Amino acid sequence: MARNLTKIFKIYRFNPEIDSKPYYQKFKVDMSKCGPMVLDALIKIKTEIDSSLTFRRSCREGICGSCAMNIDGVNTLACLSAVPKDEVEVKINPLPHMYVIKDLVPDMTNFYQQYKSIKPWLIQKDENKPEKGTENIQSKEDRSLLQDMDKCILCACCSTSCPSYWWNSDKYLGPAVLMQANRWVQDSRDDATTERLSELRDPFSLYRCHTIMNCTKTCPKGLNPGKAVAQLKLDIADKF
Ligand code: SF4
Ligand code: F3S
Ligand code: FES
Repeated sequence: MARNLTKIFKIYRFNPEIDSKPYYQKFKVDMSKCGPMVLDALIKIKTEIDSSLTFRRSCREGICGSCAMNIDGVNTLACLSAVPKDEVEVKINPLPHMYVIKDLVPDMTNFYQQYKSIKPWLIQKDENKPEKGTENIQSKEDRSLLQDMDKCILCACCSTSCPSYWWNSDKYLGPAVLMQANRWVQDSRDDATTERLSELRDPFSLYRCHTIMNCTKTCPKGLNPGKAVAQLKLDIADKF
């Protein structure tokens, strides 16, 4: 039997300037005339059917993190998600529990402020800084302590899959930002380890993680933010 190549995309729509509440809109796409990924289908819908459909995208290869959304109940990147072959309907929502600016575009302001709050840069004493014009090197063994934490693209799929973050995102930093906090804690060249750990010692910033592990399960880059959060807790227990 020939496979049905027409897919229906059921997409969350909300324009706060004209809609009193959100709704779903269905779009039919002939997949024989479309690229294989969900982002291809969204671009086709926007180009050929409804130019008002709003979503973020840039690199279309899993690097920029901007096309993060919830596809059939899973937070992931639209550019890395193949349109499912067997289901006729694909349901697309914005990342959960975020304020929506329009359609599939969440407001990332709080997420970026939280990222800024962990000082995501190298802090070194003057005497430990490399000479001007030379590299700030570290050994291969020290580099390996970063594991893959520096490969995070800050898409927020993990944080917005975490129930603790849903309920306390004003005070709990969430797995993406905490993994970046740990990325600098584990960097052998950084001189602010104690201060960085001390900043997290309150009831909310770190300790609202209850090891639910949705974060690691959903990360579209295959990273392990849940483990990074656990490592921070262990380091704090060791140090204080
Ligand atoms: Fe995205 Fe994974 Fe980074 Fe979380 S850890 S922000 S899911 S890349
Ligand atoms: Fe949330 Fe991940 Fe912890 S899902 S509770 S941050 S292990
Ligand atoms: Fe850049 Fe999808 S468009 S990650």
